[in-house]
Amino acid sequence: MKMLTTCLAATVLVLSACHSAGDLSTKTQNQSQPMEENITKSPFGTLPDGTSVDLYTLTNKNGLEAKITNYGGIVVSLKTPDRNGKFEDIVLGYDSLAQYVADNPYFGAIVGRYGNRIAKGRFTLEGKTYTLAKNNGENHLHGGLKGFDKAVWEASPFKANGGVSLTLSRISPDMEEGYPGNLELRVIYSLTNDDKFQIEYSAASDKSTHINLTHHSYFNLTGNAKRDILGHVLNINSRAYMPVDSGLIPLGFYKMLAGTPFDFQQPKPIGQDINAADEQLKFGQGYDHCWVLTREAAAIPDGKMFLAATVYEPESGRVMEISTTEPGIQFYSGNFLDGKYKGKGGVVYQDRWGFCLETQHMPDSPNHPEYPPTVLSPGFIYSSATVHKFSVK
Ligand code: GLA
Repeated sequence: MKMLTTCLAATVLVLSACHSAGDLSTKTQNQSQPMEENITKSPFGTLPDGTSVDLYTLTNKNGLEAKITNYGGIVVSLKTPDRNGKFEDIVLGYDSLAQYVADNPYFGAIVGRYGNRIAKGRFTLEGKTYTLAKNNGENHLHGGLKGFDKAVWEASPFKANGGVSLTLSRISPDMEEGYPGNLELRVIYSLTNDDKFQIEYSAASDKSTHINLTHHSYFNLTGNAKRDILGHVLNINSRAYMPVDSGLIPLGFYKMLAGTPFDFQQPKPIGQDINAADEQLKFGQGYDHCWVLTREAAAIPDGKMFLAATVYEPESGRVMEISTTEPGIQFYSGNFLDGKYKGKGGVVYQDRWGFCLETQHMPDSPNHPEYPPTVLSPGFIYSSATVHKFSVK
């Protein structure tokens, strides 16, 4: 496949310019004094096939720190201060590469080619039916058996105005996991000096395909995962969500939130209504649904940054605001964490010890022409961006 000569990222909401990757690693490695903001590289381990994988540490001038591996683009840790200035890790994950390889419920990963579910693992595009793995009951989930979360990405660190970044790129070959088209991908993670952790995705394909990239960090703003996330106060900028069937495939219509346990239009503790007698909560074993972002109320079209959700953890004072260019957000309350994952520092993640807010297009869009489209045709560039802004109150 012919490589794109333009910097794909330049077409996204790039807050920083595209730089050549080589510069920074040389500069940082040669300096005896660390720069204010910094990015370093260290070995993270070796995969069963012998491939070496690295860990990049991004630090901003306020001391926020993100550790990212090029295996699955996984955010291994993200440290932010609480209201007393104490830095702690606010994402779930593992200490070693081997644990990620052995059993990872998508902790911190880049998810694709299609984040979320595609009913019965198939879709028809331009008259041709494509069959995908059924890796979630009778449905397809998060790109299949070996999705982007299990791929090794090429990594290039760079420094840009106002922060540090890591570009991850790879080509997903034609028919990988059943999807058509050689897909050239680029994901840029940035940690900015104004305490934003930002993810910019771009892609181009040589055949029409479907794409829906997202990020799957499980957050726990208590810091170092002290307890469940039910006390976190959540506000989602949405008036409607997508009810699902028992396999978590959307039924095909939007339901207004008012009067339902799904209503987060006003800030509300995640645990307040999570055990309400509601068929939808039963299907998800808690929240595991797509909220439709209320862009029209703010006159902000899809594709432009929009404040999707705010989360506040009262004890630590940590606040996370998520803005995105996407039309939807999957709020998953960690319902399948059941104590079988022994995470960082030996902490066992119990039920609802982490939550995900996955910015994305609607689940099963390939089978719903009435949803915002997820088709990427040759000659077009897919672009998407999500920003996590950290502060305390
Ligand atoms: C997503 C899904 C959940 C679950 C997690 C991973 O958020 O919506 O149902 O599969 O990923 O465990």
